Amino acid sequence: MTTTARREDTKPARKLPWILEMYRSDVAKKWIMAVSGVILLGYIAAHMLGNMKLYFGAEEINHYGESLRDLGGDLVPRTHLLWIMRIGLTAAFAVHIHAAYSLTRKNLQARGRVRYDEPRQYLAANYASRTMRWSGVIVLLFVVFHLADLTWGWFSDDWVRGDVYANVYNSMDAWPIALIYIAANVALAMHIFHGAWSMFQTLGINNPRYNNARKNFARGIAGLILIGNLSFPLAVQGGLVDLDGHTPGQYNLEYGE
Ligand code: HEM
Repeated sequence: MTTTARREDTKPARKLPWILEMYRSDVAKKWIMAVSGVILLGYIAAHMLGNMKLYFGAEEINHYGESLRDLGGDLVPRTHLLWIMRIGLTAAFAVHIHAAYSLTRKNLQARGRVRYDEPRQYLAANYASRTMRWSGVIVLLFVVFHLADLTWGWFSDDWVRGDVYANVYNSMDAWPIALIYIAANVALAMHIFHGAWSMFQTLGINNPRYNNARKNFARGIAGLILIGNLSFPLAVQGGLVDLDGHTPGQYNLEYGE
C-alpha cells in the first residue's frame, strides 16, 4: 500500500537571496550534483592521464607537475591559473557534497514517513543510493589522505617538494598505502558508475531504449579510470616503477606552491 506524507511546516520559510531560494528545490540540487559531478569527473580523468607520465620517468612527470604551475605562460603570474582551477575544483567538490547531503537527508526523512512494500525498482534505487553514500564518504576521506600524502608530504621524511616521481614511489612502495589507494579507487569507480548512470536520469536522458547504451557508457568511463588509477600502486608494488638511478630532487625546477 502506498500512502503519501506531506511535510507540514509550522513556520513559514525565511526568504533567501534568489540564488539560494532556487537551490532549495530538489531539481536544482540534482542539476548541481550533475554539473559539479561532470567537472570533478573531468578533473579525475585529466589527473589520471597526467599521472601516466610516471611511466615515462622522473624527468617527464616532474616537469609536467612543474608545467601546471606555469599554466598561462608569461600572460599570467606563476601559479595563478593553477590556483583559479584549484578554487573552482574545491567549489565543485563542496557543492557536490552539500547537495548530496541535503538530498540524502530529505530522502531518509521521507522514507521514515512513507510506508510502502518495496517493489523491485525501490530495492535497486536503494542499493544505488546506499552505494553512493558509502563510496562518497570513502572518496572524501581518500582525498584528504591523498593531499596529506602526496601534496603536503605529511607521512614521509623522504617527501621532496616537486619530486612527484619519487614521492609517488615512496608512498606506494609501502603495501598498506598501496592497499588504501587500491580500495579507495575501487570505491571511486563504483561512485562514478552510479553517478554517471543517475546523471542521465537527472538530465532527462532516460528513454528505456537507451538503457544499455547508458549503462555501457557509465561502465566504460568508470572502468577506464579504475584501470588507470589502479595501475600506479600496482606498478610500484610490481617493480615497474622504481628509484634506480634517481637522485631525490634531481629534476626539480624552481618550485612554488
Ligand atoms: C593512484 C592514483 C593517483 C595518483 C598516482 C595521484 C598522484 C598525485 C600526485 C603526485 C599529486 C601531487 C602533485 C603535485 O604536488 O605536483 C596529486 C595531487 C592531487 N590529487 Fe592525485 N593521484 C591519484 C588519484 C587521485 C584521485 C582518485 C583523486 C580524486 C578523487 C585525486 C585528487 C588529487 C588532488 C585534488 C590533488 C591536488 C592537486 C593540486 O595540488 O592542484 N588524485 N595526485
